[in-house]
Amino acid sequence: MTLEAESKSIAAQFDYSDGDVNKAVKEFLRQLDEGLQKDGTSLSQIPTYVTGVPNGTEKGLYMAVDLGGTNFRVCSIQLNGDTTFNLTFSKVAIPKELMVAKTAQELFAFLAKQIELFLKEHHEDHFEQHVRRRMTISSPDGFRDEHVFRLGFTFSFPVQQIGINKGTLIRWTKGFDIPDAIGKDVCALLQEEIDKLHLPVKVAALVNDTVGTLMARSYSSPGKTGTVLGAIFGTGTNGAYVEKLSNLKKSLSGEFDKSTGEMVINTEWGSFDNQLSVLPSTPWDVALDKASTNPGIQMYEKRVSGMFLGEILRLVIVDLLKNKDVAFFKDENSSSNDWKSTTNIVADSSIYKQWGLDTAIMSVAAADGTPELSTLRGELENQLGVHAAGLDDAQAFKSIAFAIGRRAARLSAVAIAAIVLQTGKLTDPANQDEPIDIGVDGSLVEHYPYFRDMIYEALAIIDGIGPEGAKRIRIGIAKDGSGVGAALIALVAAGMEKSMSTQDYLGELRSNAKENNLTAVPEDAENAAAD
Ligand code: BGC
Repeated sequence: MTLEAESKSIAAQFDYSDGDVNKAVKEFLRQLDEGLQKDGTSLSQIPTYVTGVPNGTEKGLYMAVDLGGTNFRVCSIQLNGDTTFNLTFSKVAIPKELMVAKTAQELFAFLAKQIELFLKEHHEDHFEQHVRRRMTISSPDGFRDEHVFRLGFTFSFPVQQIGINKGTLIRWTKGFDIPDAIGKDVCALLQEEIDKLHLPVKVAALVNDTVGTLMARSYSSPGKTGTVLGAIFGTGTNGAYVEKLSNLKKSLSGEFDKSTGEMVINTEWGSFDNQLSVLPSTPWDVALDKASTNPGIQMYEKRVSGMFLGEILRLVIVDLLKNKDVAFFKDENSSSNDWKSTTNIVADSSIYKQWGLDTAIMSVAAADGTPELSTLRGELENQLGVHAAGLDDAQAFKSIAFAIGRRAARLSAVAIAAIVLQTGKLTDPANQDEPIDIGVDGSLVEHYPYFRDMIYEALAIIDGIGPEGAKRIRIGIAKDGSGVGAALIALVAAGMEKSMSTQDYLGELRSNAKENNLTAVPEDAENAAAD
């Protein structure tokens, strides 16, 4: 078989037809509803106790940290109250060994250390003043509570939320595996390490990155109907959306404000269809899952998100290299190579190692429109140690990579479509001229060329959406969504500490914003953060 024929046949195995897409949307809606009825289902449908979205008038200085999949970010955010904000941040890659540390304490100590470094670098005045106050003020805690930064903790893993700054880890995803942390309150784990360093920081709110994205998008692009979905297509994937309380049938432990009639639900859609009733499964999907830290779990995520797409491609490539019947990254001699050289793969190429192919190269492949695919061939050399790959090799690589990326985009459309249909906004007569606003973030949706175009193409063929419906769906990047969103929730939490004991922090956010028009944070908390 020629390489071209073989690569076409492999690419075809990643086709996900219009019929498949429609069938999956129906199943997604079924699993979505199942998760609203009871616990322990494939889609966790975690109630967040957030019962409204911001309107852009919120104000104050807050901190946020974001433990995502690949990086840890520390930021301070000045919300200006006019839909704008200023953000200062630092970012550090999470050391691989900490993702699988023996104890949760090791990971959280590292996080607290990064917070300390950030404060020293960006908020030295505040930090120094705090240290001085600690030496001079003899309150029971040694210092005044209102001089402490309120911090929103974006923790992008499935958590059973039991309060505004309390939640226990259900399971790890995205290659993290620290069994010691399961069932523990992640806010308490972080606060303990912050306290050991005597930092002026209180973990005020616990937020999933999708909820943060939804909040941030609503703050910066407020519309008549508000944003309906916050979604991440990055290292992992997930979505949080605004659900009618009347559809939420499972019992809720905490108190919350029922006046908005809505609640934000963290779907944890990475685990959609773990049973594989509608998800596609190639031999490479099976192999990836088997070698993962969590076989049988996050099956949708393993076909959609950035952490996994490169690994699927790598497994295909390794199989192709083993195939004696096709010449892939192999030349008979220099005359069969269009660059008149011979292809050579370095012995220690990362292509032979699990996770050794970074999904970013798939973006390079998709974007390369040069006649000789020279950009991609350069990257194959730099990243994978493949010297002088031929044009036919690069074409095969590109077409297989594209098939994997396209399948991921079409699967992403399944989740988006199901949520849009679930909200009923497309058919709501009161909403006919309004766009259906969706905030997204993550490396895949931001950097993979045509990812959003492919999502739209799939949305247009979905029953109940169609080309007209697809046009009304506005998918916009909410950059830094999780940081700003966490700050917004920390803002309300700061108010709640003083004024209420319920868990309805965004109900509070709304009424504060209404009452004060511009200032939603109590005077003293705001001054304290700013001084
Ligand atoms: C986690 C979600 C998170 C998503 C995106 C998934 O692996 O389970 O909680 O929102 O990644 O970061």
